[in-house]
Order: sequence, then structure tokens, then C-alpha cells
Amino acid sequence: MSTSSSRSALEFDQLTKRFGEHVAVDAMTFSVPRGSIFGFLGPNGAGKTTTIGMALGLIPPSSGTARVLGFDIRTNPSEVLQNVGAMVERPAFYPYLSGRMNLQVFGAQAGMDDRSRIEEIIDLVGMSERANAKFGGYSTGMKQRIGIGAALLCDPELVILDEPTNGLDPAGQREIRELVRRLSETGHTVFVSSHILAEIQEVCSHVAIINRGKLVSTGPMSEILAGTDQLVIDVDRPEDARQTLLNIPDLEKVVVDERQRLIVDVSLDRAPEINQTLVQSGFAVSQLRHQEGQLEERFLALTGQATGSEQTNG
Ligand SMILES: Nc1ncnc2c1ncn2[C@@H]1O[C@H](COP(=O)(O)OP(=O)(O)OP(=O)(O)O)[C@@H](O)[C@H]1O
Ligand SMILES: [Mg+2]
Repeated sequence: MSTSSSRSALEFDQLTKRFGEHVAVDAMTFSVPRGSIFGFLGPNGAGKTTTIGMALGLIPPSSGTARVLGFDIRTNPSEVLQNVGAMVERPAFYPYLSGRMNLQVFGAQAGMDDRSRIEEIIDLVGMSERANAKFGGYSTGMKQRIGIGAALLCDPELVILDEPTNGLDPAGQREIRELVRRLSETGHTVFVSSHILAEIQEVCSHVAIINRGKLVSTGPMSEILAGTDQLVIDVDRPEDARQTLLNIPDLEKVVVDERQRLIVDVSLDRAPEINQTLVQSGFAVSQLRHQEGQLEERFLALTGQATGSEQTNG
């Protein structure tokens, strides 16, 4: 485990990468608290892999710094690499060897030949039952889990996973989310990138949202989601009801959605007042419920665009 006393597992300071004219990562500055499950969220081409690559010494920065557990990989490579496990890109394994054998081979190459540790890892990534089957026959999700297992061989404090659910079906995605939680419960800081908002919202304690190489917002998930609560109201004559609600001071946003429900951007404590106004104005309210803020709304509000779409460069 780590030898440094840095409070941040990762610290990016004005980190920048240019590819020719194109600025792929632009003065990226944020930090990742130790012990967090930290979501690194951005659409395709936002600069996630490039940022991770710079932290791990795979890509040289144009300027700025990335500190991993207090160390810059360019000056202290061994301090970084001994304490970080990473899965970037789809991992390459021997298809004709079993998952277990692959981990043993990788472990031996890394100077780690503690067989019981490998059994622990197989158990942790949920591959006990299939560990003796050939890697080439695994599902994509199983391959990802062996890949994450390989990242754990050095018993790292910090685990960095670049889009670990890419290409997985919903069940596979859920397995990876459960594994991320397990990694956190077993004392790891987990830094996980994704372009899937709901996934990050579900599993992460903290988040950094990036877009076109730039940091858009970062902080604890609860703070990022603050102010995104909504009331969903089933009412007769929703359009008239909307006009009535718009007369209430400081109600900023009231819309009628495609299912003819009223969506009011307001926190739960305003529900009685809103209900009373509608009833007193003669509307029949059949249901009024609270909907927790969605990262998707926040992302759209912050960037003015949806995720999952390829960005045009420049
Ligand atoms: N080696 C390179 N040469 C030129 N441009 C690059 C290179 N690597 C990345 N880029 C560009 O930098 C930008 C950021 O790419 P990056 O791969 O970091 O994004 P990403 O957020 O990981 O996207 P994805 O979700 O598709 O994995 C993109 O516009 C990409 O085309
Ligand atoms: Mg990427």
C-alpha cells in the first residue's frame, strides 16, 4: 500500500495535452479524494483516456502535472506503479490459457508469485467458478473481470478503470458496478471513467464531468445533484395547471412532459405549497411524487449537450 501521505489519490493541476493544433486535455485541474469511488464522466472524445494515460505515464503531458498518490510518474515511477492498478484499453491475455493461468503468468511477470493472493483476486472479481476455463471462451464481461483482476495483482491502493463497462450488456454492466463497490469496500480508491451518466450516478461518491477536454464540474455526487430534484404531478388540465404554478414566485421551471405530467424543478419541501395551490385553484391532483435529481439533467444543463455522441474536433 502507499508510502505517501498525500490526501488525494489523484491530483491534476493544469494538465494539458495537445495533439498538433487540437487540445485534447485543456488545463485539467481537480483532485480525487482517497477512499472515494470517483466517476470520470465525459462523452466520446472528451479526453478521458488521454487524461488517464498522462497520469500513468503512457502519454507525456504538453504541460501541467498529474500526481498519483502524491507522486509524479515522471520523477517517481516506482512509487506510482507499485500502488496503482490500471485497466486501460481492452486487456490482452493468452486465449488458450485459463483465467487463473493468465493471472499467474501476469503475476509472475510482475514478480508476484503469491498463489493465495491470486485466489483472493479470482474470488474478488467473481470468477471462481470459471477460473479454469480458457480465457478465449469467456464472455466480454468475464474478460473485463479478469482484466480488473490483473490490475489488482500489485495489491494497489488506487484502481483506475477506463470505461470498464464498454461493450457489456446490462447484466455485465451491473456485475462491473458490483465489483467496483466491492473494490471500494475492500479499501481501494476507485477512479472509473464512463460516458454513461446513470452508471456513474449509481455507483460513485464523487464525480468530475469533462467535455471537449475541459473540466465542467466536480465534487461529491450529492453536491453535483443538489438543486436537480423534481416533483412529478399527475393533474387534470396540465397546461392550465402549469400556468397557475408559474404564478408562484421563484418557481423557475414548470413543464408538461410527453405523458401529460407536470414536472416542476423544485425540492420536496415545496410540495405542500404546490399541492395546495393546485387544489385551491380547482385542479384534481391524482398523484404528486418526488424524483431524485438526475445526473443527466445536470450534465445537459452544464454542457448543453447529450453524452454518448462523438464530438467534432476543433
Ligand atoms: N494519439 C492521438 N493523436 C491525435 N489525436 C488524439 C490522439 N489520442 C486522442 N486524440 C484526440 O483527443 C481527444 C480526446 O481523446 P480521448 O481518447 O482521450 O477521449 P475519451 O474521452 O477517452 O473518448 P472515448 O469515450 O471515445 O474513449 C479526441 O478528440 C481524440 O480524437
Ligand atoms: Mg477513452
